[in-house]
Amino acid sequence: MGQTPMTGAASKTDQYGLGSYPAIIREPLVAMRMLASAGVAATFDHVRTISLLRLHNRFVDRRRREKFVASLEQATNADAPRVRTTMPEEVAEAVHCAPLPSKTVKWAIDAAGLDPAEYHLVDVGSGWGFALEVASELPFRSLTGVEFDGGFHEMAVRNFEDFAARGTVAPGRVTLKHESALETDLPAEPLVVLLANPFGEQIMARFLDRLAASLKAHPRPVCILYVNPTQAHLFDRPGLDEIALQGASARLLRLFSPYRVRAYRWHG
Ligand SMILES: C[S@@+](CC[C@H](N)C(=O)[O-])C[C@H]1O[C@@H](n2cnc3c(N)ncnc32)[C@H](O)[C@@H]1O
Repeated sequence: MGQTPMTGAASKTDQYGLGSYPAIIREPLVAMRMLASAGVAATFDHVRTISLLRLHNRFVDRRRREKFVASLEQATNADAPRVRTTMPEEVAEAVHCAPLPSKTVKWAIDAAGLDPAEYHLVDVGSGWGFALEVASELPFRSLTGVEFDGGFHEMAVRNFEDFAARGTVAPGRVTLKHESALETDLPAEPLVVLLANPFGEQIMARFLDRLAASLKAHPRPVCILYVNPTQAHLFDRPGLDEIALQGASARLLRLFSPYRVRAYRWHG
């Protein structure tokens, strides 16, 4: 286990070297560069995602985001990353932290037909705890966040201490682990594993192997909610079945979620 500075996977803005431009110029420039390099469909998808994210952040989650005493929006120098890794590729493949919209989390759980009361939810790559706080409103048995970046982990700890002090999330309901996804011991209980596109192909493949090994050691129901499923091809493996998303929440996800969602059940 090591501690290294994090660089991480580049955002579209970094990828096109446009980080120094003000947002009003930067975004049309990103769209133009994407059109030239990735084509119309990918550009449309990107613009749809960014627009819906803005709408969720401004009109649905503004109040919720303001409840967090520690987040990137309020970052201080103390939040410099210290990363726990098992291998350098984890840093190269890490996706920068952007919390999921609360509606995406809740629609996904409902559309997959999951009864929270039957599961322990683990958010793998939990950032400063935004999705965990959303999920803590549902009757999950308990919740765990696994985050390899020490800065984000400490923000999450501060946030849940504050929620406990204000009585909005019971102390002990959420366990926060400063660990790599490739070292963490998953709870030996029925699990909902939330993956908000935390990492790329190599790490995802290794993480799925670890999950398979954990299931072999402790057979139990395991469902995976994979949001923004950029590595969905890896889930086409023995033991994993895709769950068809159904009902009103599935339609809401399709129409209004910035990110697509896929759900899987493991018949380990
Ligand atoms: C998109 S953010 C997740 C945000 C969070 N799930 C939420 O919705 O509030 C992805 C997170 O995964 C973390 N991460 C990336 N690779 C990781 C790894 N190998 N082990 C643990 N965490 C990792 C990143 O540091 C980042 O905070």
